[in-house]
Amino acid sequence: MFETALVTGGNGNLGRLVAQHFENVGTKVVSFDLPGTEGVHSNHRHAVVLGDIRDQNLLEHTIQTHKPNVVIHLASMLSGSSEANAEMAWEVNASSSIQFMRMCLKHQTGPFFFASTTATYGPDLDSPVALDTPQWPENIYGATKVAVERMGVYLKLRQRFDFRCLRFPMVLSPFAPSGAMTAYPSHAIIAAAQGKDFVFPVAENTGMSTLYLNDVTRSIVEICTANLTSLHQHIYNLHSYMFTAKDLAAAIQHRYPNFTCSFTKNSPTDELIRRWPDMLDDSAARQDWGWQPQYDFEATIDALVKDSITK
Ligand SMILES: NC(=O)c1ccc[n+]([C@@H]2O[C@H](COP(=O)([O-])OP(=O)(O)OC[C@H]3O[C@@H](n4cnc5c(N)ncnc54)[C@H](O)[C@@H]3O)[C@@H](O)[C@H]2O)c1
Repeated sequence: MFETALVTGGNGNLGRLVAQHFENVGTKVVSFDLPGTEGVHSNHRHAVVLGDIRDQNLLEHTIQTHKPNVVIHLASMLSGSSEANAEMAWEVNASSSIQFMRMCLKHQTGPFFFASTTATYGPDLDSPVALDTPQWPENIYGATKVAVERMGVYLKLRQRFDFRCLRFPMVLSPFAPSGAMTAYPSHAIIAAAQGKDFVFPVAENTGMSTLYLNDVTRSIVEICTANLTSLHQHIYNLHSYMFTAKDLAAAIQHRYPNFTCSFTKNSPTDELIRRWPDMLDDSAARQDWGWQPQYDFEATIDALVKDSITK
């Protein structure tokens, strides 16, 4: 196991749980995230650095001070916020991530994990999407992630940078970040738990490939700890299940019979989600490092409902 992990975006939806996974096995976690994102979870961290990923001096100072031997790079603008400010998305997600990888290579920080996305694929692909399907995203978020994937693989091939990368589909989470267009399923469940109506920002038959948060955070730990010689791909796609907004409404009504909702056709969110892949071929991850999702659709809804009740 690693002595020290640096987790960027360490106060986020995925970051705080990944940090917890590492801490549970005795790894010291240094969290790096924007000022104002710290919360009670931050108290458990070995160190919390508050700053912007574009501040490369602060990043380098953090590496020199804490000498991490694994880096989990999760700091990112998400799909919605990237579309709202494409220039900043390029600076944060692409340019700063690429500079950061070069810095980690210089300081020999060990495995470098990068969180990519199925939004790197173009629209309307046939399912299941193969790992080597050409990536021509029409959204800026996906474009920034493709740029980092390419540079990561380049540094790996040319300079033996230990680049490890997973493409996640929609992640269902009780801590759904507001900047993600994919947050509506969690918001629907919270609305149901509070006895409120909900307007889905998508049409009833819209859906895409999905994973539950706990499977995502576990996958990050698994790929970081996998033996490098068993990783025959530079990047892996992950998938668990696909559901439509109508499926979700029925699953919620099964648990909250008074839940009422409506759907929205032709919204910007619908336009994106409807055209992203329904299923990805994750067989390479299953073969190389034993990837196996533990949450199907019903198990995910049960977990989210349980969480929304305890909130
Ligand atoms: N949630 C999903 O559906 C999903 C799907 C695919 C990939 N991902 C990727 O997983 C990673 C984590 O996503 P998440 O769901 O935890 O989102 P999140 O928004 O909860 O976490 C991202 C974190 O990055 C931080 N951040 C943003 N800009 C920053 C900056 N300039 N400097 C420093 N920190 C900054 C935010 O404060 C936040 O804590 C991201 O790279 C995201 O692109 C998420």
